[in-house]
Amino acid sequence: MPHFIETQFPIARLSAEAYKERKANNSQTLTRLGKWWGRKPLILVRAAVVGMLMPASGNPKKDREIFLKILTMDDFGTLSRWREDKRFNDAEMRSLATIDECRSWDELDQKYQKARDKVKMLRVASKQVAREDKEAKQKARDAIEDAERQVECRWMDFNQFRSELQVACFGRLSYTERLTRCERPENVEGPTSDAWQEINAHLGTTATSLNDLVQQLGQCAFGHVPRVGDAFCGGGSIPFEAARIGCEAFGSDLNPVAGLLTWASLHLLGGGKEVQEEVIRVQAQALAETDAQVTEWGIEHNQQGERADAYLYCVEVKPEGCDYFIPLAPSWLVGEKSKAVCHWKKAPGSNRLEPEIAIVSANEVDAFKAGKNATVVDGRVIDPFDRDRSWSVEALRGPEGLRRWVNDDIVPRPGDVFQERLYCIRWVKTVYQNGKLKEIRRYAAPTDADLERETRVLSLLRKQFDRWQAMGFIPSKPIISGYNTDQPIRERGWTYWHHLFTPRQLLIHGLLAEISSRLAKTKEAKVGCLLGLGRIADWNSRLSAWMFHSTNEKGNQVFYNQALNCHFNYAGRGFTKLVDTFSISSSSEDAELHRNAKIIQIDARDLLTTCDIWLTDPPYADAINYHELGDFFLAWYDKQLAKEFPDWTPDARAELAVRGDGEDFRRSMVDVYRNLTRHMPDNGIQMVMFTHQDPGVWADLGMILWAAGLKATAAWTISTETEAAGIKKGNYVQGTVCLVLRKRAVDEPGFLDEVYPLVEDEVKRQIASMQALDEDGEPNFNDSDYQLAAYAAALKVLTQYSNIDGRDVEHEVFAVRARNEKSDFQIVIERALGIACDYLVPRGLDYSWRDLSLSERYYLRALDIESRGERRKGMYEELARGFGVNDIRALLKSDKANGARMHTASGFASTLLAQADGAVADSNALPTRRGRGASAAIHPFATSPLRHLLFAIRETAANDNNPEPGRQYLRDTFGQNYWNQRERFISLLEWLAQLGNAAGMEEWHTDSEAARILVGRLRNDQA
Ligand SMILES: C[S@@+](CC[C@H](N)C(=O)[O-])C[C@H]1O[C@@H](n2cnc3c(N)ncnc32)[C@H](O)[C@@H]1O
Repeated sequence: MPHFIETQFPIARLSAEAYKERKANNSQTLTRLGKWWGRKPLILVRAAVVGMLMPASGNPKKDREIFLKILTMDDFGTLSRWREDKRFNDAEMRSLATIDECRSWDELDQKYQKARDKVKMLRVASKQVAREDKEAKQKARDAIEDAERQVECRWMDFNQFRSELQVACFGRLSYTERLTRCERPENVEGPTSDAWQEINAHLGTTATSLNDLVQQLGQCAFGHVPRVGDAFCGGGSIPFEAARIGCEAFGSDLNPVAGLLTWASLHLLGGGKEVQEEVIRVQAQALAETDAQVTEWGIEHNQQGERADAYLYCVEVKPEGCDYFIPLAPSWLVGEKSKAVCHWKKAPGSNRLEPEIAIVSANEVDAFKAGKNATVVDGRVIDPFDRDRSWSVEALRGPEGLRRWVNDDIVPRPGDVFQERLYCIRWVKTVYQNGKLKEIRRYAAPTDADLERETRVLSLLRKQFDRWQAMGFIPSKPIISGYNTDQPIRERGWTYWHHLFTPRQLLIHGLLAEISSRLAKTKEAKVGCLLGLGRIADWNSRLSAWMFHSTNEKGNQVFYNQALNCHFNYAGRGFTKLVDTFSISSSSEDAELHRNAKIIQIDARDLLTTCDIWLTDPPYADAINYHELGDFFLAWYDKQLAKEFPDWTPDARAELAVRGDGEDFRRSMVDVYRNLTRHMPDNGIQMVMFTHQDPGVWADLGMILWAAGLKATAAWTISTETEAAGIKKGNYVQGTVCLVLRKRAVDEPGFLDEVYPLVEDEVKRQIASMQALDEDGEPNFNDSDYQLAAYAAALKVLTQYSNIDGRDVEHEVFAVRARNEKSDFQIVIERALGIACDYLVPRGLDYSWRDLSLSERYYLRALDIESRGERRKGMYEELARGFGVNDIRALLKSDKANGARMHTASGFASTLLAQADGAVADSNALPTRRGRGASAAIHPFATSPLRHLLFAIRETAANDNNPEPGRQYLRDTFGQNYWNQRERFISLLEWLAQLGNAAGMEEWHTDSEAARILVGRLRNDQA
């Protein structure tokens, strides 16, 4: 029997939930432990596990309803997640209420006001009753009491009405809009007892919590609590969430930094209250002791009672022929909000310029922001006193490159090309103002006393340096050359990880590392402190760019993207600004998740653990060099990690990392998945997730999994990554493909000629079932989902067989082919897409679709996806592949990666219209009739009736919506055939007339109007 996820998945709702989770930034459950790249949203993991455990019944609608209930993603569930502080205000409510509701609201309000006025009036009247007239006085009092009761009743009516209206209005929001007002599912209790009754009735369970349900479903499917494993566990989303919902969780990763994060998710966040409190206590004490030492050293405080919380450094160079060192920055704006800028002055008798911090006007801020006085522009160093003089940064590094720093180098040596200097400090003083504590901040250039403090920092560090390196409190590892790691080596000569930190950063981080290692007694506390060190390293490094534009004006995270970028000016943080980053704030997780979890560090090819469900997210085409970037953190954990995890190798073992997309990658992936398949029961189930930009790339992955002995049963795309994901607008969406797989139990041969009709049937069946789910309610699927489903359907058929026409799958995966040569298997998969495209008729075009050529269908289908907000060029290309259209350039108005659009009727002008001689019409002349002698060089669209119809629309629009020239053009072009085509023209024109109404299709306004007028004329046309 298939499981829920093999029949359907609520893609739209899940995408919205995943987006919400992503947008929560630091309040995401696991991200606060530390940086890892490509973390999967917990809600997606939760939905995937439940979907893999829940059996599908014969009633898909009911299944869906129940599935959403389990995840509190049904309508009632979202209502129960609605936050108290996110109720509607009156204006919002009025904008959502019906006219009748507004009227009732006003009436109830008036009744209430009237009742209050009556009380007021009675009170005034009662004051006029003479005190001695006891009876009258009593009567007045009674009347007031009566009226007050009326007020209360009216108020209750009014309130009751408003509460009901709140709920009604909430129900009118789209799912995405609702979510902006809701808690995430992970932060609420779960389904209500009524919901559990319904869930249990449908599934035949007796659960009262998600954990119960998961365990009962596991029992049913596998005879025990379900074991869920992830062999590429990274930041730990999969094992953490699996454990949290009641599974036995297994996680492994090759990289020890990933291992540490996953271990911490389960043992620290999932370690129970006591463990967390101990970690928080140790961290707080370590911070307090470090603070006391920093204060005693006097390295952050000045004579005026201020403490520094930001140190701004820049690189300096002295190019040949220049008498002074030029400080480098792409902008000398210090703070946009504080309007501080840095000016540089020559200093008599010195070859170092002097910084001066000034507060300037808003206009000047804008000028600085736009690069006024910048000393690095487009890779060239600019002389600040003669802006016509410049040197290329590349050339300054010299033909041999920069001197490579050695371990002992902490600051540049005097002869180095790039020097470093402190040019600005932000000082903070807390004062008592108007009964409140207030922070006063000011920026200043460093004084002699400040520079003396810098020297003191350096000498304090030098004293500890060797010992701290030996003990592992500061990094001591060399940087291993690689795609990302070569950048600091090449651009700054930094060859050891500690070179990426200023002396001040090394001193404070090292001190905190030493103190916390002394204070932490438990493994959890030690790991908590290590991860804290990793986090402060990420925010306090020579790679932390200064963000003058941020509201708080602060140093940036090193890993704001997936690289090791070197900046010319950067920021160090004062100790006070490290406190929050070092600490884990208290966790909401009470459960002891580690009891049901096991985390190891191992190459996925070697693991020996058996799981019922493998849920993996391999490093594929995501271009993240985990093994290189992770070393930034490993350099800080290094020896401490080795002590706590003696079985782990404190090394990224780059040579074993799965990466790239070439032959090596395919080989290691087949090995990994063959191993996982070996380590699951026959009725086990797998999901492979990967985030893609081009839906085409995943067919390759399908082949790999096929070769590994798996068969596909379904595939779904969830938008997980970026801005527009939650609103399904398409622009910058990155989908995560979730491929569901089972073990291929028998070795059955397949034959291509038999496979084609099966693929065709499967594609149609799959699409029809998705369309049926889409019919009522919000759309779940967009075009890429349908295309993906077509691929998956083809894979479903193909992967049942162990060979096709006697050819072995593995052999096919590794066969060497010419660049554009396709295997028969790929051709079958692409054919599936063609079938899907044929089957997906834009709404309203059913009548004429059958008679259209492939290029006409492509153009209309492309317009259809454009009108639904799809702008990714990849999707237009994918569609073209499905329709077998080779050249789409001529049809696209814009082919920007995320801004693809089709030409409008007028936008084509008279291009791409076939001339009698086979050439393309020039834009001034009316084209001649089609047909005669169209040569092979002509684009198939150029000779199509649709193209001529578009021209007729253009003619109508160009003649102030006079339809006559357009109609005449069609009659001239098609002759007698015009009458046969007329009905089809009418149907196409009606469709095009609607196009301009769609959001984002404003470019079609004029042509749609022209189409509307032309269609009227054609309808009334008579021979
Ligand atoms: C896309 S990430 C996984 C992210 C994870 N799902 C999460 O939510 O954080 C892929 C992971 O595969 C790991 N990896 C690469 N090669 C590996 C191998 N040979 N064996 C095990 N893990 C490997 C990388 O270290 C990386 O953490």
